Amino acid sequence: MRIDIISVLPELLESPFSHSIMKRAQTKGLLEVHVHQLRQWAVNEYGQVDDYQYGGGAGMVMMCEPLAKAIEHLQSERKYDEIIYMTPDGKRFDQQIANRLSLYENLLVICGHYKGIDERIRQHFVTLEISIGDYVLSGGELAAAVVIDAIGRIIPGVLNDETSALTDSFQDNLLAPPVYTRPANFRGWEVPSILLSGDPKKIEQWRYEQAVARTTERRPDLE
Ligand code: ADE
Repeated sequence: MRIDIISVLPELLESPFSHSIMKRAQTKGLLEVHVHQLRQWAVNEYGQVDDYQYGGGAGMVMMCEPLAKAIEHLQSERKYDEIIYMTPDGKRFDQQIANRLSLYENLLVICGHYKGIDERIRQHFVTLEISIGDYVLSGGELAAAVVIDAIGRIIPGVLNDETSALTDSFQDNLLAPPVYTRPANFRGWEVPSILLSGDPKKIEQWRYEQAVARTTERRPDLE
C-alpha cells in the first residue's frame, strides 16, 4: 500500500512511521508513506495556503487552489482508492474502517489546520472524512498518524504472527483478555493457573470467557 499525505507540517509526520511495526511494514515493502508539503502549491512566494473566511469570523481557512493543485498533481501519478480528509466532523474511526482501508493500494490523506479546508475541496475531491474522536486537535497530522498506524499494522503480511491482529481488541467486538508473562509468581501475585496448564482448549475457553466478562463490564455498548 502507498499512502500520500498532504500537510503544512510534514515534520510532525517524520517519526510516527519510523519505528516498530510501521518501520517493519515499510522495510518489508508492504507500506510506503510519502508526505507532501502543501506550500509547494502555495498561491504566492510567501507560501500562502490559507485566507480569511467569507462571512467573517475568527480563524483562517485552507484555500482551494493549493489543495486542488496538490491533489491533482498526485492524482496524475496514480489513482486513489480513497481521498481522506481528517476532520473532527468526519465519520468516527474504528477497527472496521481500519480493516477496510488496509486492503487498498493507494490512499491520499489531507491534514487540515486552522478552521479547516474550503468546503468545495470536500465536495469535489474528498471521498471519506474521518474523525478519531470527539475532541479537536490543532491539526490533522496526529489524527492521520493514528489512522495510518491502525491500518499499517493489519496490512496482510505485516505482522509476523498473522493471527495476532485477529485477537486484538475490537476485531470481534470483544475487548482482549488479560495477558501475563514470566515470572509465574511476582511478589506473591500469581498468574492464573489455567494458563500454565498446557491445555490449549481450556486456555482458549478461559480467554474467551475473560474477554466476554471484560467487555460486559467495560464496554457493554460493544455487545
Ligand atoms: N483534526 C482536528 N481534530 C481532529 C479529530 N478529532 N479527528 C480527525 N482530525 C482532526
